[in-house]
Amino acid sequence: PVLVVDFGAQYAQLIARRVREANVYSEIVPHTVTAEEIAAKNPVGIVLSGGPSSVYEPGSPTLDPQVLQLGVPVLGICYGFQVMAQQLGGEVANTGLREYGSTDVTLSGDGGSLLSGQPEAQTVWMSHGDSVAKAPDGFDVLASTDSTPVAAFASDEKRMYGVQWHPEVKHSTFGQQVLENFLHRAAGIPAEWNSGSVIAEQVERIREQIGDARVICGLSGGVDSAVAAALVHKAVGDQLTCVFVDHGLLRAGEREQVENDYVASTGVRLITVDAEQQFLDALAGVTDPEQKRKIIGREFIRTFENAAEALVLEAKAEGGEPVKFLVQGTLYPDVVESGGGSGTANIKSHHNVGGLPEDLEFELVEPLRTLFKDEVRAIGRELGLPEVIVGRQPFPGPGLGIRIIGEVTRERLDLLRQADQIARDELTAAGLDEEIWQCPVVLLADVRSVGVQGDGRTYGHPIVLRPVSSEDAMTADWTRLPYEVLARISNRITNQVPGVNRVVLDVTSKPPGTIEWE
Ligand code: XMP
Repeated sequence: PVLVVDFGAQYAQLIARRVREANVYSEIVPHTVTAEEIAAKNPVGIVLSGGPSSVYEPGSPTLDPQVLQLGVPVLGICYGFQVMAQQLGGEVANTGLREYGSTDVTLSGDGGSLLSGQPEAQTVWMSHGDSVAKAPDGFDVLASTDSTPVAAFASDEKRMYGVQWHPEVKHSTFGQQVLENFLHRAAGIPAEWNSGSVIAEQVERIREQIGDARVICGLSGGVDSAVAAALVHKAVGDQLTCVFVDHGLLRAGEREQVENDYVASTGVRLITVDAEQQFLDALAGVTDPEQKRKIIGREFIRTFENAAEALVLEAKAEGGEPVKFLVQGTLYPDVVESGGGSGTANIKSHHNVGGLPEDLEFELVEPLRTLFKDEVRAIGRELGLPEVIVGRQPFPGPGLGIRIIGEVTRERLDLLRQADQIARDELTAAGLDEEIWQCPVVLLADVRSVGVQGDGRTYGHPIVLRPVSSEDAMTADWTRLPYEVLARISNRITNQVPGVNRVVLDVTSKPPGTIEWE
């Protein structure tokens, strides 16, 4: 792999993704990694990420100096560039001049293998306080700005390169080209990593892990579990059984998408558990959001566990291979964020189906643990999964249960499902799905307001539209939807959904508002 050394800013994951967009496999390691640990991974290249610190601050993140002696091609970015300069005998100065945001750089010379072919003047994204004042001996200075004499340097002989700016950020106009020049030209790494190669590799790994045993997977209707199960099915066929819990809190059409479209395109064996009544009974009279989440989580695990146990017993009774494995759709960001990026320390499993009890003791199969979300989607498409599942926007595990403000009842769920379907249809028809991260539709079941419809007075409930734009759901802004689209959604909902006489728009960013209302 190419190893991306994380110096503690938000940039490492972005760099890792951009490297993969160049069809080269990448992994993230913390800056505390030793040169030995790096060498053990046989990297074909190393990228040092940016970071929030100054190399002068006491306790600022450092790098094992031996890393730069391994003979592996290195690209330093921003803070990583300064760490390189410092360790290789250059000079880093605290000039007191900050550069932040879009900045003009001027290339000097022919740009070397890193920058050749690029325009002499270009706009890049900067974010730094310290500057490299002098490049290390034997390095060529490739670029400068008004306030930074050394904005990029290179030594083709040592195969070491650095840029002060952030090539991984889209605001750096030729950023991706810088990364690709480093990877393909300077380091000579072929562009071979793609959906097809990931599928082939994972299928082989899964076969090796599972052998002849049986394996189960909980499907949620979301993209991660769907792609994970499809990969496992491709590897071991009917040794896999999928379990889909219909808790009655799903949106219109979601069960059918799994039972019909997904099964038709993959051929997986599917068991659906009808648990609507069980969930409604458990939720009766409950209005507190945390309480709702707890109840839904608990019932979900209980239901899944029962289904799993039945499969285990069935396999025993038949005398067939035991059920030994459980598939989970854990993604790479979860692995990195729980300290697993180093491949050594503190790997915590994120449980999409909640903490299963010890006595079920399944071994986990996690075929997506090296992948980012957009890569999972690409693999799903390559495997031929239906677009309604692969392209699906995020939907919370507790489902519509946390989008009814007030007690959850079947009637209210039906109302909300109708309103949600109208909103989704209109947003899709207006071609807005790409622009919107997700659009929760919320029923204020405990609020009533007066209206007039036909000749009569109504006293109904409001529906809230919560369209948000986001990169990762950690922060979000409300999406500025066109008025005509909002008008159509509002008209249709108030005309077609009984008991709803008002539609309101949530114009709160996150923070302070969360995306969901509960
Ligand atoms: P909030 O409301 O915290 O939501 O801004 C952030 C993202 O997480 C989703 N969400 C959940 N997903 N189980 C999930 O699987 C949950 O309990 C849950 N709560 C919120 C939400 O839809 C948004 O994408």
